[in-house]
Amino acid sequence: MKAVVLSGVTPAEAVRLSEMPVPAVKPGWVLVKVKAFGLNHSEQILRLSEIEASYIKKPIIPGIECAGEILDPSDSAFSKGQKVVALMGGMGRSFDGSYAEYALLPAHHVFLAQTDLPWDALAAVPETYFTAWGSLFEGLRLGPEDTLLIRGATCALGYAALALARAVGCRVIAATHRESKLPLLSQADEAVLDTGLLTGRMSGVTKALELVGPKTLPDTLRCVSPGGIVCDTGILGGVYTWNGFDPIKDIPNGVYLTGFYSNAPTQRVMDEIFDFIMRRGIAPQIGARYRFSQIREACLALDSHAVNGKIVVTMD
Ligand SMILES: NC(=O)c1ccc[n+]([C@@H]2O[C@H](COP(=O)([O-])OP(=O)(O)OC[C@H]3O[C@@H](n4cnc5c(N)ncnc54)[C@H](OP(=O)(O)O)[C@@H]3O)[C@@H](O)[C@H]2O)c1
Repeated sequence: MKAVVLSGVTPAEAVRLSEMPVPAVKPGWVLVKVKAFGLNHSEQILRLSEIEASYIKKPIIPGIECAGEILDPSDSAFSKGQKVVALMGGMGRSFDGSYAEYALLPAHHVFLAQTDLPWDALAAVPETYFTAWGSLFEGLRLGPEDTLLIRGATCALGYAALALARAVGCRVIAATHRESKLPLLSQADEAVLDTGLLTGRMSGVTKALELVGPKTLPDTLRCVSPGGIVCDTGILGGVYTWNGFDPIKDIPNGVYLTGFYSNAPTQRVMDEIFDFIMRRGIAPQIGARYRFSQIREACLALDSHAVNGKIVVTMD
């Protein structure tokens, strides 16, 4: 099979397809014929630095999510030919991921995709919508009465969160650090330019989704009204931890701080997501499509921040 195989730090220009044996099935694992996969910011981080960490299997086929068909169900309850999605749980980090024609995946991280979405749209859902869903509904307990601030809104996850929040009926303020990208946030009730300081510029914000991360989190916490919740989910700002965090002073009185990590998806939640987006007519925002033979170009696009929305790769 063709696959991207990484052994060390790899700039997008150096990404290429190699020939590999199709993995042999084993108990507890299923063989998936990959039909399409989405690209993620975390795969850029893996390729450019995280791959050097000791917990990353090397060499590794990257890719934390995919959409495809069961080719060999092994000892699982799946049947050959079923349409599935898979995400996270170590995929593309501690075991080989989706930048391949076939992926051997733990059955408990593979989920039936009961939807008529075409492969490219389906591939835009698993990681992005699972994370948006968990952040908004598990983390923030978002409801129609809320005013939601999305900080770092011009990423695939931000667009998905915006679409879900609009479908719920709440008021949405979307922030981007690029003035040129403000028109991309026209679905929001208000699009604001993020200069790094939003404190004092917001009123009535009851929930905030922080996608820039610890770099702006202290400021985001000060934008939320007492009783409100901030969910820290992204790390677009390139700062991964909040050093010197002083909870007494940094979390304003009566404001709640939570986070969301997409590592434990379930069939129940995936069913809820597919049901919700189908019923509400939400079309996952695809920013660019590439064929698998163009994986280098797809990675270049990811690294250049030139694409607005999810980058999706379909098999040749
Ligand atoms: N907690 C979890 O489990 C989880 C799950 C999924 C994703 N995430 C995180 O969520 C974030 C979004 O992921 P994604 O895959 O949707 O990203 P993505 O689509 O690859 O997003 C990259 C885009 O974000 C934009 N961006 C917006 N604000 C930015 C800022 N302050 N600094 C740098 N870039 C900014 C960049 O464009 P411009 O710079 O031109 O605006 C770039 O085009 C990432 O940090 C990712 O690691 C977390």
